[in-house]
Amino acid sequence: MDGNGRWAQQRGLPRPEGHHAGTTAVHEIVCGALDIGLRHLTLYAFSTENWKRDTDEITTILETIRRDLDEGPLRDLDVRQRWLGHPDKLPTELVQALQRAERRTRNRIGLTLTMCINYGGRDEITRTAAALAQAVQAGDIDPHLISEEDFARHLPHPDMPDVDLLWRTGNEQRTSNFLPWHATYAELHFTPGYWPDVDRRDLWQAITEYSRRQRRHGAAPLAITRDDASALPSR
Ligand code: IPE
Ligand code: MG
Repeated sequence: MDGNGRWAQQRGLPRPEGHHAGTTAVHEIVCGALDIGLRHLTLYAFSTENWKRDTDEITTILETIRRDLDEGPLRDLDVRQRWLGHPDKLPTELVQALQRAERRTRNRIGLTLTMCINYGGRDEITRTAAALAQAVQAGDIDPHLISEEDFARHLPHPDMPDVDLLWRTGNEQRTSNFLPWHATYAELHFTPGYWPDVDRRDLWQAITEYSRRQRRHGAAPLAITRDDASALPSR
């Protein structure tokens, strides 16, 4: 979700206004996801690198998230809310609000909304490696036999599926430490507009474009034989 600050600057508003407007866009996109029965939506709300910002801006972002968790409209929707990230340095009230939202919504089945807050992909991989090392030390795993599945089982949310579609707004074409384990084969979608300007039609458009991509995961394209070709409907 990129472009909150530039959205505000463009309007001569202080950056916090951009983060407030960005929260409304989150509600809109979550509703759009529910409309079409999307199973998983994962939002990158605050990265381990965002601590480099001004304290005031950090406080605004984290407090906006906290307030939305406790008072926002997602509370009443069929959304299972989860948190991916680390509590280090986060305000206790935010950690508690995240844990409350997880507890309150854990039996919902409509959409799993994972909020990445104080999340970094390398941090996640480093912590997962540490968890594996502990399992080795405890004698639970033979280090010579560690598989990708073993690694995945030690991730903070082992049931989180691979990323199918990674969408970044705000005219930047990079993934910025977002879900490196899960997004290795993600289809990438970059759009120029700022996050507060998106609405559910942009999500649907992204998914429509995604559905036209040919995903091979490293396999060769399907060869069309002469017989197959003659069986194709003529246009
Ligand atoms: C994204 O918008 C929101 C967060 C990182 C929390 P930015 O704050 O990065 O907005 P720009 O990139 O400065 O416009
Ligand atoms: Mg940005």
